[in-house]
Amino acid sequence: MNPQASSPNHTTRPEPNRRFSVAPMMDWTDRHYRYFARLISRHALLYTEMVTTGAILHGDRARYLGYDVAEQPLALQLGGSNPQELAECAALAEAAGYAEVNLNVGCPSDRVQNNMIGACLMAHPELVADCVRAMRDACAVPVTVKHRIGINGRDSYEQLSDFVSTVHAAGCTSFTVHARIAILEGLSPKENREIPPLKYEVVHQLKQDFPQLEIILNGGLTDLAVMQAELAHVDGVMVGREAYHNPWLLADVDQVLFNDAHPQPTRLQVLAQMRPYIEQHLAAGGQMHHITRHMLGLFQGLPGARHFRRELSTTIHRTEQPLALFDQLFEQMQARLERA
Ligand SMILES: Cc1cc2nc3c(=O)[nH]c(=O)nc-3n(C[C@H](O)[C@H](O)[C@H](O)COP(=O)(O)O)c2cc1C
Repeated sequence: MNPQASSPNHTTRPEPNRRFSVAPMMDWTDRHYRYFARLISRHALLYTEMVTTGAILHGDRARYLGYDVAEQPLALQLGGSNPQELAECAALAEAAGYAEVNLNVGCPSDRVQNNMIGACLMAHPELVADCVRAMRDACAVPVTVKHRIGINGRDSYEQLSDFVSTVHAAGCTSFTVHARIAILEGLSPKENREIPPLKYEVVHQLKQDFPQLEIILNGGLTDLAVMQAELAHVDGVMVGREAYHNPWLLADVDQVLFNDAHPQPTRLQVLAQMRPYIEQHLAAGGQMHHITRHMLGLFQGLPGARHFRRELSTTIHRTEQPLALFDQLFEQMQARLERA
């Protein structure tokens, strides 16, 4: 059953393939990280960091919605709970060419709770449904929701199932589920990604109970073989921290998860492809570390990995010639890998 069929104004753009995605991560998955990640995997669906409706409607819109076309397929994650404002932002996202608009119902930080953004919305399924309905009415781009399996005080399976079915009734057919609850008082956002136990079986149950919905599993995934096994239970996997700290994880995604056997670039080729992007950024007045801070883990597990990380995280701040440092580092890594 597809609820979109009964809603003439709704989503007409094709759904992006969500078999593997990189999670939205504030301060980490900015456009520079995404450009870099896209050089490693062609197929991974990339998400922006959460952008609040307030930032888009009252802030530097070009900055918050801007991206490089090379980053596509790219989804915009919105933070907000005012249906009208979310609808305006969804329309802007469509005009900007995003492949999907996602609503954040998973972030536990105090700051966003005060603004009724994020995980606290799990206690208000009808409001989330109103938001989704308004967003879908305003744009032709698929609208999805990223949420937790619950929040403290509202963590039964029945409540989760009620949340999903209420939001589904508003037309959302793709749910990305971080398989742990959020504890809204007393834990930092970081602790909320580590302390509540992961419960993949709850997400599996959701898929069984809502087979017509796309259910994407998120939380604690680090290994492609495990992800492949999970894909027997769910429709897709979303990876956050591991894709950031160990970006080369993305190198096998196209072949293993998307069955696309195009020749893979090497790490050195990716590094070389980043050079013109960095040059352009420097020419526009930017600093090299805005970009290279996302690349520190590129050589993880290989000889010279520590040197690469150190040069790009410390020496970079002492040099007047960042591109010369970059070129020198390229040659050093090339030599180290040849010797290995
Ligand atoms: C630094 C950081 C920032 C995050 N920012 C967001 C965000 O903006 N929106 C969101 O939905 N989740 C955010 N998350 C949560 C991730 O999207 C993901 O749900 C979580 O890290 C669990 O996945 P993982 O175990 O694969 O990292 C953030 C996580 C980290 C580590």
